[in-house]
Amino acid sequence: MKFRQRLLSRIWRRPLSPEEQIARMREDWERRATENPLHFIATANEHWDPAEFYASGEQTVRAYILSDRENICQGRDPKSMRVLELGCGAGRETRALAGIFGEVHAVDISAEMVRLARDAVGPFQNAFIHQNNGMDLSVVPDPPFDFAYSYLVFQHIQSLHVIRSYIREVHRLLRAGSLFKFQVQGIVTKRGAAPGDTWFGFPFTEEQILQMARDCGFESRYRTGVGQQDFWNWFFKPEAPG
Ligand SMILES: C[S@@+](CC[C@H](N)C(=O)[O-])C[C@H]1O[C@@H](n2cnc3c(N)ncnc32)[C@H](O)[C@@H]1O
Repeated sequence: MKFRQRLLSRIWRRPLSPEEQIARMREDWERRATENPLHFIATANEHWDPAEFYASGEQTVRAYILSDRENICQGRDPKSMRVLELGCGAGRETRALAGIFGEVHAVDISAEMVRLARDAVGPFQNAFIHQNNGMDLSVVPDPPFDFAYSYLVFQHIQSLHVIRSYIREVHRLLRAGSLFKFQVQGIVTKRGAAPGDTWFGFPFTEEQILQMARDCGFESRYRTGVGQQDFWNWFFKPEAPG
């Protein structure tokens, strides 16, 4: 997208169409993935040692997945489960997921991130990385999935339309009774991000998350971090009526 166009839409705070937003997300994440991918994925370090970067993914997976086996596995053997990850970046967490679950599919909007993630999961025959269009999961093969997960992704997506589209898509792909565990931005500011910003995503109140669950056919069973950057959500796909 042209620099002048970007500047003008920021000054006027003109809302962007979903197509314009997606074009910006792709362009900005491609640039970040080329300039300093590990830093833009996990900003704690500007110059990551790759081994430490992937160790941070294992730590994240221990904190949010292994500690929550009851909701995620529901008594199933993890090796029998098919898992979906949205916004995998360089495969920081995907690699750890592939060591735990039977089959892992992950999507990302950026071709360069997808290349890095494929390298990262290279030794794992059970991990599949797909570049997607930035708003749906049509590239993902063969539902159903037994668990879906996303961390540090929706917090960068400003378009509610795009986030809703992803949550509906996860609902389409998940097995009834299964969980979509994901994080959104929970810090709500008065002014909000400038139109077209691809760093500060849509900030959710608790009421907006509950509405999102209703809109997309999920039961929002638990929430933590309301009002904080790590606003975690447990959306369960209801069991099919008996
Ligand atoms: C901060 S990184 C997090 C990566 C990974 N979840 C992790 O925790 O290591 C955000 C990732 O989301 C991807 N992303 C951003 N917007 C997206 C969109 N609309 N659709 C798919 N991926 C997107 C970016 O390309 C980037 O790889």
